Amino acid sequence: MYYQEKTLRRFLICRKEYYSAEMKAFLENVDLYFDNTVNKFIKKAPGEATTVGIIKINNKKFVIKRYNPKGFWHCVKRMLRPSRALRSWKNSHYLEQHGISTPKPVAVLIEGFGPIRDKTYFLMEYVDGLRGGDIFKRDSEHQSSWDKIFQEISLLLKKLHAAKVTHDDFQHNNMLFVNEYPVLLDLDHMRIHKYNSLWFRHNFRKDIDNFLMVLGETNPDAWQMAETMINNQTIGNL
Ligand SMILES: Nc1ncnc2c1ncn2[C@@H]1O[C@H](COP(=O)(O)OP(=O)(O)OP(=O)(O)O)[C@@H](O)[C@H]1O
Ligand SMILES: [Mg+2]
Repeated sequence: MYYQEKTLRRFLICRKEYYSAEMKAFLENVDLYFDNTVNKFIKKAPGEATTVGIIKINNKKFVIKRYNPKGFWHCVKRMLRPSRALRSWKNSHYLEQHGISTPKPVAVLIEGFGPIRDKTYFLMEYVDGLRGGDIFKRDSEHQSSWDKIFQEISLLLKKLHAAKVTHDDFQHNNMLFVNEYPVLLDLDHMRIHKYNSLWFRHNFRKDIDNFLMVLGETNPDAWQMAETMINNQTIGNL
């Protein structure tokens, strides 16, 4: 099911069905893509923790996220922890297994010398959806779908609760919407809890609070609608 390469300098896992000659060539020289300004980037600014771009391979669209190195000491500190790319990879699979929508993970690539990881990459399928930021912006043309969308977000929260997952940056900007169904992004900080502990419940509540806080800053009308619905439907039924 997976193609794997594990050497001191390079660690790669890629879904076999996608590991074509074109994919291989891309993954062998992935920085050529990031250095080429002709390519399409969703997020690319100097000093940012991540760079996110769109790439077409064998006529199919993918999104590649590069976790940019933050200097030597940062690398040393990270030595004992799995890289953010690997965490995203594992977390995506966990969500998939629990029926929670997230972009399909395609490959994870870690380059660097042994435990001192230099750059890490996470490749996923492109999701053709609407951005949360566009759906909830002021004077949004999507206002008529908010009701349905908040119901779906309440359902998503219930699934996350059942799977004992906290996201750590749960907010509409980390979601895409396909026919009003949320697809959860940005899983680098997501945590899978073992127990329904106080710690889990505290962090889960923090996810909800963060969602409402960011939404309130974006659009008070949307906040008003979400607050009652999410608190009643989610918290009330857990
Ligand atoms: N699989 C995907 N398909 C389509 N668009 C995507 C996909 N993954 C990410 N994006 C777009 O790229 C943006 C940034 O992705 P992500 O949130 O994972 O990175 P980030 O480093 O947290 O960026 P930000 O700081 O903007 O949140 C998302 O808001 C979304 O619009
Ligand atoms: Mg994000």
